[in-house]
Amino acid sequence: MSKQCYGIFFGILLTIAGVFGQDTSAQPVRDLYVAVGSEVNIPCFGGEELEWRVNRSALTTGPVLHLRNVSLEDTGVYTCHGLNGDISDQISLHPGYAPSPPVVHCWAPSYPQKAFCSWVQKPDTLLPTQYLVTYRPLQPSDYGYASILFTLQPHILNITAINALGTATGFMQFILEDIVKPDPPVNLTITASSAKRATVEWTPPPSWPDTVHFPLKYTVRYYWDQQQTDHTLGPYELPRITITGLRSGRTYKIQVSAEDLLDQGSRSEWSDPVSLAVPSS
Ligand SMILES: *[C@@H]1O[C@H](CO)[C@@H](O)[C@H](O)[C@H]1NC(C)=O
Ligand SMILES: *[C@@H]1O[C@H](CO)[C@@H](O)[C@H](O)[C@H]1NC(C)=O
Ligand SMILES: *[C@@H]1O[C@H](CO)[C@@H](O)[C@H](O)[C@H]1NC(C)=O
Ligand SMILES: *[C@@H]1O[C@H](CO)[C@@H](O)[C@H](O)[C@H]1NC(C)=O
Repeated sequence: MSKQCYGIFFGILLTIAGVFGQDTSAQPVRDLYVAVGSEVNIPCFGGEELEWRVNRSALTTGPVLHLRNVSLEDTGVYTCHGLNGDISDQISLHPGYAPSPPVVHCWAPSYPQKAFCSWVQKPDTLLPTQYLVTYRPLQPSDYGYASILFTLQPHILNITAINALGTATGFMQFILEDIVKPDPPVNLTITASSAKRATVEWTPPPSWPDTVHFPLKYTVRYYWDQQQTDHTLGPYELPRITITGLRSGRTYKIQVSAEDLLDQGSRSEWSDPVSLAVPSS
């Protein structure tokens, strides 16, 4: 079978935490990012006789604000004031966490053209965090061959999370063939041809670019009310089958899933179930 050569493209699904807006009052607000549980000393860039307020409520006095064990409840705008009450300094305190390594997951629903990678960051850092994505062949020895055999060559995708408290890198190493996972087939239709038989048809996942050079095979499953176990049929290479032996009075639910014909990667999720009610005789 002819394996064509395509460039690899990563569509990256990413969320970057919002950037904090600036306060528009006269004194610029300094953003201060601190680790939950840490101890901080916040100096006031201002006069000598000083009062600290948090969210406009009086807190303490002195030139340096000391927080012994920062918790999320300490979030707020801290101001220090001179004798006349004017604001000498304004600090927006953001307690949060240094990033942990992002957990990366890549899959290829449009083999061999595209892979998608997403990642999760747990726990949430609660701070503005940026993600740096790098991706390369594992052994960049000979790019001439690499471009021809890229579907067979190991690649590594790194995601580095960066915020004010630290950085952490998570990665996924993969061979494109191994992460093939089609989207589910669509437009499942059922046509009853007699009281006991029905024809089920569907359309290959629209995201799969080339069913001629990279054919799919399908598995069908059905189950009915009050029945926990399902029946699976297949795999089939054509997008249609006839189910026989249906019983009157039952309502069947039917789903289909797609998989690369050569067993690369894994099977798609099941399509949304479609019902078939067989009338009571
Ligand atoms: C800091 O506060 C947390 C939560 O209130 C508490 O569990 C922890 O023991 C405290 N640590 C110190 C060093 O006081
Ligand atoms: C300050 O106000 C913010 C926003 O209303 C609130 O989330 C925070 O808990 C307050 N901080 C303190 C220390 O009262
Ligand atoms: C990705 O991360 C691995 C492991 O941390 C590291 O060895 C490698 O150099 C990184 N690659 C890139 C392209 O940043
Ligand atoms: C699925 O069916 C809808 C409605 O009949 C149609 O508009 C759509 O093009 C079909 N999708 C595919 C991939 O055949």
